[in-house]
Formats: sequence, structure tokens, C-alpha cells
Amino acid sequence: MNFEIKYKDARGRAGIFKTPHGKVKTPALMPVVHPGKQTLDVGKYGAEIVITNAYIMYKNEELRLKALENGVHGLINFPGPIITDSGSFQLSVYGDIEISNQEIIEFQEKIGADVGTSLDIPTPPFVNRRRVEEELDVTISRAQEALEVRDKMLLNSVVQGSTYPDLRAKSARVLGEMDFDVHPIGAVVPLMESYQYSSLLDVIMASVENLPDSRPRHLMGAGHPMIFSFAVALGCDLFDSAAYILYAQDDRLLMPDGTHKLEKLVEMPCSCPICNNYSPEDLRSMQKVDRTRLLAQHNLHISFAEIRQIRQALAEGSLWRLVEKRMRNHPYLLNALRKMKEYTPHLERYDPPNKKSAFFYSGPESLNRPEVYRHQERLMRLPTRERLILLSPTEKPYSKHIPIGEMNFYSNMNNLNQTNLKEEKDNLQLAVLDVPFGVIPLEIDEVYPLAQNESPQILDEDARKYLLEEFESYVKNYPEIIISENIQDILDLSNTPHKHQLELPPVKKLIDDVTRIKYIADYQFGAGAGEIFRGDVEITKSRKTGKIRHIYHEEELIATLRARDGVLVLGMEGARRLHSYLPYPLNRVVVNEDAEPFAREGKSIFAKFVINCDMNIRASEEVLVVNQQDELLAFGKSILNAPEIMNFKVGQAVKTRKGGF
Ligand code: GUN
Ligand code: ZN
Repeated sequence: MNFEIKYKDARGRAGIFKTPHGKVKTPALMPVVHPGKQTLDVGKYGAEIVITNAYIMYKNEELRLKALENGVHGLINFPGPIITDSGSFQLSVYGDIEISNQEIIEFQEKIGADVGTSLDIPTPPFVNRRRVEEELDVTISRAQEALEVRDKMLLNSVVQGSTYPDLRAKSARVLGEMDFDVHPIGAVVPLMESYQYSSLLDVIMASVENLPDSRPRHLMGAGHPMIFSFAVALGCDLFDSAAYILYAQDDRLLMPDGTHKLEKLVEMPCSCPICNNYSPEDLRSMQKVDRTRLLAQHNLHISFAEIRQIRQALAEGSLWRLVEKRMRNHPYLLNALRKMKEYTPHLERYDPPNKKSAFFYSGPESLNRPEVYRHQERLMRLPTRERLILLSPTEKPYSKHIPIGEMNFYSNMNNLNQTNLKEEKDNLQLAVLDVPFGVIPLEIDEVYPLAQNESPQILDEDARKYLLEEFESYVKNYPEIIISENIQDILDLSNTPHKHQLELPPVKKLIDDVTRIKYIADYQFGAGAGEIFRGDVEITKSRKTGKIRHIYHEEELIATLRARDGVLVLGMEGARRLHSYLPYPLNRVVVNEDAEPFAREGKSIFAKFVINCDMNIRASEEVLVVNQQDELLAFGKSILNAPEIMNFKVGQAVKTRKGGF
């Protein structure tokens, strides 16, 4: 229980990992420090934690004695947290090593490693299943033994299982049930070396989906900044890199968009101190040792810059944008980005519905993002009506910019009574068809991310096809459809043969405020939640923007419509009503007796006090806090999603807005 989440985006998390030698911000890059040969002080480049190899120390008498005498921190002269690896990788390369699992665990403990590793077997990709199963059994039993042997040291337990998703899953599940602190994902180096990123995707997902969310995950041997954002978006927290030195020795420079060979450079690729102070020619004419040292420094600078950029993206909710950018840097990465579509339903459960950043469409792959999938799912929460008017997109929010007056429409109805649209408004659904979200009913057009997104006006073929499919699945619910002629370059209107000229009134004459907020509540909380606005409600609006701000019943606040993202934030009366209209356990986080008084006082809810919750809760949503008798105690914003709330024992689960019930 040494890990806490601070920010979430995609399936990734920015967190704090606590070790005996201090706290580490994740995602973190751990430079590999060679216990006998290290010359660079990696701490100077941003390393808060490093990894070194206990087997190399153990094997060399001088290093072993020094490590036993001064500890590993003294030996490699690094004061912060140190993870040690066990020699498994040497085992996989040389086939045999001279130490037992028990000995290497005891040794790591004696030299004061913060996190030690048992002697797992890194089974390579694509070998026969029998071998994978046998080696996985050994890995698991050694992990079990490590738990018995260790005293206080934190323990890694490496997920193996080669490229068999079910064996990766089993490995993750079995190890996840035992008392480990960190879960590396092992034996992925060959996949990365051969650019097999879509297999890497499958391996990571099979592991991550089955590991406890409350423990950090380390993608072992991942040291190229090109893949950091991808791995973070899938739920990896730690990386280790020997790449910074190995590439330097080979006269190669790491960049987030790939690798550059020094011999081909006419210009230095970045703005780090090395690239600023030396030309490629300067470096080429140096002694090898000096050059390697400088290239290693560049490699560290650029790798840590990428980690910082990822942490920023997690904090501001723009990780997908970074991932899409990075994955366009190599066709095989792009392949993996496209394959991520298979995991969208899973990723959606972890991706927070409310973010501070706008959704940017960067190409057809953006249509696979969780936000798009979520909109399609949540659209089903809304009521349907008899008659649909589908309009072409305008500037956002649409309802403020839809043109009014005489317009041409196509319809499946022959005799359409043209002028009494306003009288029939309760029968009428107005919607826009747009990239990337497809059909957007105008009642919800200001809700995040339906107004907070940008895409090019010129459509690509995939987007056209997508719009057509979205339209077709949506209109199935409507006997009567009326489509603006402006959409005819996207839609085939042969089923809507009748042409009409209609006078479209302003949208605010067709959609009243109460309908709007009811739709938003249904969309946000689930079908039927709009009932919280039943009866007499008083709506106040911003004098400046005319937007709905507060919804009251008599003097009591039901909800505020947050201006920034069009999302409903509950008030006391709204929480009470939602609690009475949505049956248990919907939208609930259930806390134990100990937490009840704190919740009633409006204090934030820590995950360890939660005994149950609605398993559909996402992070960043408005939730109700109740006791075991389903009495309403408080309400607030979820910091984690439901599986995380249930799995974590440290950190906040719900930031309470108000208690006092
Ligand atoms: N370093 C890179 N891959 C691995 C692995 O699978 N296991 C261990 N212990 N270390 C590694
Ligand atoms: Zn540089």
C-alpha cells in the first residue's frame, strides 16, 4: 500500500510511490545504474529513483563486499530509492546463473534495496505454450518463496506469460492476489527491439487488466521515450532505461519521435545543454569516451523531458493528444494505436469523463477514443421522440449558432405540416451530426466534451463512414425524420425523398430550459435522473452569457450547471432527490461506520473506508456517499473509478462537496 493516485487520464495515472528512501512521482523513469561502471550522476538529470542489478554485485567479490558493507545506496552513491533486479535477465541471456532465488532475495535485503526482485523466468515471445506454462509455474513459485524469505524489503513480482494473453492474465491475477508492492511486466524487450508494438499492446493490456490498480506497474526494459506515453496511457507507471547509455555507446540519440544516428546529423535535434553547446561535428571528432558521456546526457535530458510532458498531460487531461502524436512517429506504433480500438470499452471505464482539456481530432484513430464510445453509450440514456430534425454542424455550442428561418429539408414524410413546429416541440428531437461524436441532441450540446472539441472541417473518408453509421443506428428509433439539405454530401437521403421548405424557429423556442437540464441529468447520471428537476424549479442564468447557472426548488439548490464544461454539480436538494430517484447502488459510494461522522461533516472520503460502490462510477463524476443502510451522508466528486475505489487502501476516493444530511 505504497501508491496513491493524484491525476488520471486515459488508463494512466500520475501518482506518488512511497519507498523507505523517499517518495517518487510517477510516471517515473529509472535509469539503469551499473554497480561497477557508473560515471554519470543520473540524479542531476531528473532521476528520483534508479534501478541496478543485484546479481552483478553478487557475482563480483569486490562489489559484493562493498555492497554488504556500505549498502547499495553507498555502493552506487545514490541517496534516493533503489530497485534491484535479480539476474533473471542474465539468466535469460546466458541460460544459467550461479545463485538461488532465496540467496538473491536475502542478498537484496541485506544491501538495503528499497524494492527487490525474485528470480522470475523471462519467457520470450511466441514460444510454445507448454514451455510458457512450465516457466510461469516456476516464476510464480519463486515469487511465493520471495514473500516467505523477505523481511521488510518491498517486493517486485514480475508478470510473465510470453505472448499468451490468457497466461499473462493468469500470471497477473495470481501474483496480484499475493502481498507484493510493485508489478513489473517482464520479457517485453524482444517485442520492443523488433517494433512489435501491437503484440506489446496485447501483453500490457492482458497484464494491466488483471493486476490490482493500487500497485505501481513497471514496464521492464522500456527505455525509449518514443513509447512512454503509449505505455502510460495503458496503465504503466515505471520505466527503466539502459537505453540512454547503450544508445550513446552506439552513437545514437534518443528522441520522442525516434532515434537519430550521430553520423547522419547535420543539426543537433533538441534544445538540451548538449545539443545547445555542441555541433554534430564537434561530437564526431571527440574521443569515444567523451562523446558517449555527452550523448548519454542528451539521452537522459530528452527522456526526462518526455516523462515531465506526460505528467503534465495527465494533470491537464491531454494524454490522448500526446499519445496520438507520438504514435504517428512510426508505422508500427500507428498500427498499435489502431489496435487500441479493441480495448476501448475497457479503457473507457478508467478514462475520466470530465477533463480540463478539449478533445482534438488528429485523424480517424481519434474516433476510437473512449470519449466517443462513452457518448454513444450515454446517448441511450436519453428519451426518444417521434420526430427527428437533423441539422448540419455549426460553430459550438450548436444551439447558439443554428441558423433560423427558411431552410430546405428532406424527409420520409410526404405531408409535413410546416409551420407549427413550435406547437409540436414536445414531439420533436433536434440534433446535429458532427465529427467526432456523431449524433448530438441539442439539449446536451454544451456538456463536456460535446462542445469542447475541435476537428478539421474537411472530413476524411473514415469520418464520413463513421457519421453515416452513427446516423443509421440513431434514426432507427425515429419514425419521422427531417434532415437538413446541408448534410446531403454526407448522408444518402434516398430514404428521405420528400423535399420541404420549413421555417426553423430559434432553438431556444424549441427546447425549454427544464427539458435541457433533464436531458443533461439523464446523460450524466443515467436514464430517469432528470426527475431531480420534477415539479417547481427556479432557474437562474448568467447575466453575461445567458447560460443556465443554478436550479432551485424554493430556496434549496438542486444543482449548478458548471459554466466551464456544462456539467451538473449537485446541491443538497439535488443530492437528496438523486438519492431518492436512483435505486441503490446507483451512483453510490458506501462507507463504513467509522467514516460516517466524517462524511456527515463534509470531510473527504478515503478509499480505505469504502465498503461498496456502484461499479459503473468513473473518476471525476458527481457521486452520493451513503452508509450501509443507504442513508445519504454526503456528496462529492469521485477521484478514482469504481474498481480503483474498491482496490485502493490509501488516498482519497471522493472529494466531498457537502455533508450535513
Ligand atoms: N529486465 C528486462 N526484462 C526482465 C524480466 O522479464 N525480468 C527481470 N527480472 N528483469 C528484466
Ligand atoms: Zn539534446
